[in-house]
Amino acid sequence: MSEHIQIERRGAVQVIRLDRPDKKNALTRAMYVAMTEALKSGDADPGVRCHVFLGVPGAFSAGNDLADFLAFSRGGKHGNEAFDLLEALARSEKPIVSGVDGIAVGIGTTIHLHCDLTFATPRTLFHTPFVDLGITPEAGSSLIAPLVMGRQQAFALLGLCEPFPAERAKACGLIYEVVGEDELEEAVLAAAERIAGKPPEALRIARDLMRGDREELVARIREESRLFAARLTSDEAKAAFQAFMARKKPA
Ligand code: COA
Repeated sequence: MSEHIQIERRGAVQVIRLDRPDKKNALTRAMYVAMTEALKSGDADPGVRCHVFLGVPGAFSAGNDLADFLAFSRGGKHGNEAFDLLEALARSEKPIVSGVDGIAVGIGTTIHLHCDLTFATPRTLFHTPFVDLGITPEAGSSLIAPLVMGRQQAFALLGLCEPFPAERAKACGLIYEVVGEDELEEAVLAAAERIAGKPPEALRIARDLMRGDREELVARIREESRLFAARLTSDEAKAAFQAFMARKKPA
């Protein structure tokens, strides 16, 4: 349970809403746990036929809470909460639709690589500054991004850490559609309802075929997590986290 994750059922659609607006939906351990539980319980519930991820106006997510990363880099305990969510995404049995408005940083971008349809608004910026923070790609992105975007665009996203505006993200296959801010939720829910209306078993088989080998994906997520955890205590990463925490806002 987390006060920052709202779960709602709309017919056969389960909506998982990230709701920590004062921190731009930066993800805490409790939020990962709540999202994982929702995915797993929705997968186990025959009444749920589609999952939806939404954020708040202006922010899907600013990524992992950097205070947690900083605490770990100083010797704190690193939990498995994020890994558990990523594994649940990789093993998800029902289609996932996501809607993004505004900020989508780190896992706020890579989570969509596990979604079947992602809608984003024109002001959305997808950004994975892992390397700039002294850390490394996660969420299976090193495997999935080159497949969906091609290796060079994936390198621009994950190696150069270039921000991808919504139109560029659509052009390179990272997302499905760009829609206006006022239409986002409606478009996402309409797509989820279309999915929920399909013959579920045929759709499950089709989706399984398209998603390929889940064991390979889970193995890559695990390998990335190992490297990522090691990088969290690097001098490069410590300096980047401290710089963010100590930054002064313009007056
Ligand atoms: N972890 C913890 N807190 C975060 C956060 C994060 N990843 N991202 C934003 N916040 C907090 C800020 O500290 C600030 O809190 P405060 O009001 O108590 O000072 C609040 O959210 C609003 O953020 P702010 O930076 O003022 O908003 P902005 O619109 O100017 O910038 C971002 C938004 C996302 C561009 C900027 O916050 C940012 O770069 N965040 C870090 C993103 C990141 O590196 N994530 C990790 C990826 S692995």
